[in-house]
Amino acid sequence: MNDIRTQYDEFAQDFSVNQEEKNQINRFEMRSMTGTDLTNQKVLDLACGDGIDAEYYRTIGATVVGLDASQSLIDIAKTKYPSVEFIQGFAENIPFENNSFDAVFTKYAIMTSPDMKQIFNEMFRVLKPGGLLVYLVTHPFRQFIERKKLASDYFKQVIVDCLILEGTVELKEPTHTMNEYFNLDFFSKFEMIDYKEVWDPAAEQINGGKYPGFFIVKAKKK
Ligand SMILES: C[S@@+](CC[C@H](N)C(=O)[O-])C[C@H]1O[C@@H](n2cnc3c(N)ncnc32)[C@H](O)[C@@H]1O
Repeated sequence: MNDIRTQYDEFAQDFSVNQEEKNQINRFEMRSMTGTDLTNQKVLDLACGDGIDAEYYRTIGATVVGLDASQSLIDIAKTKYPSVEFIQGFAENIPFENNSFDAVFTKYAIMTSPDMKQIFNEMFRVLKPGGLLVYLVTHPFRQFIERKKLASDYFKQVIVDCLILEGTVELKEPTHTMNEYFNLDFFSKFEMIDYKEVWDPAAEQINGGKYPGFFIVKAKKK
């Protein structure tokens, strides 16, 4: 699983170049959930990739830390966006104290972990009470369709091949069920504010179908 978390090391440069032109819809939807004014907010961009969103949060007023498993992407982020602090680390063990952040934002990343519960525990831990969580993940329905070459058991976790950025990058992801995201544990920690599922034209279009590529959640720490 460590390989899956760090697979971006291999194509960090390609990913970073393609980011700017081929990743528009998820960025647009994320920004509509995070808001356009983060003045005086301390923000963690969890699994920040090449830092493009972290830089955006900085430009709208936030003090931002970007954290990512891939050292190569962290190196690129530091070069591209020197005004933001970037560190290498894992979402399953966030290297910050309890109640450190006003907001945790994470886009197209945490589903790379097999252990969603641990990541929600960590995001909850580092958020201040009342802090904002916005997360965007690959939709389990899309992952179910990506099992096309495998036996289709929705409830069983398997590793699927996932084509992103209009087919320019292929990566591996463990599948998840909706129940791993929405369950008593989540609702005991967070109050849900908004939810949206979105078709992503940058994702592989299997059999020409139109189905949600990702969903996005806005929630508040209780
Ligand atoms: C598809 S990229 C998205 C990057 C960025 N959030 C964006 O939307 O542009 C997924 C990123 O998540 C990182 N990642 C995956 N699993 C992680 C984990 N468990 N902890 C920290 N980073 C992780 C990868 O290294 C990669 O940079």
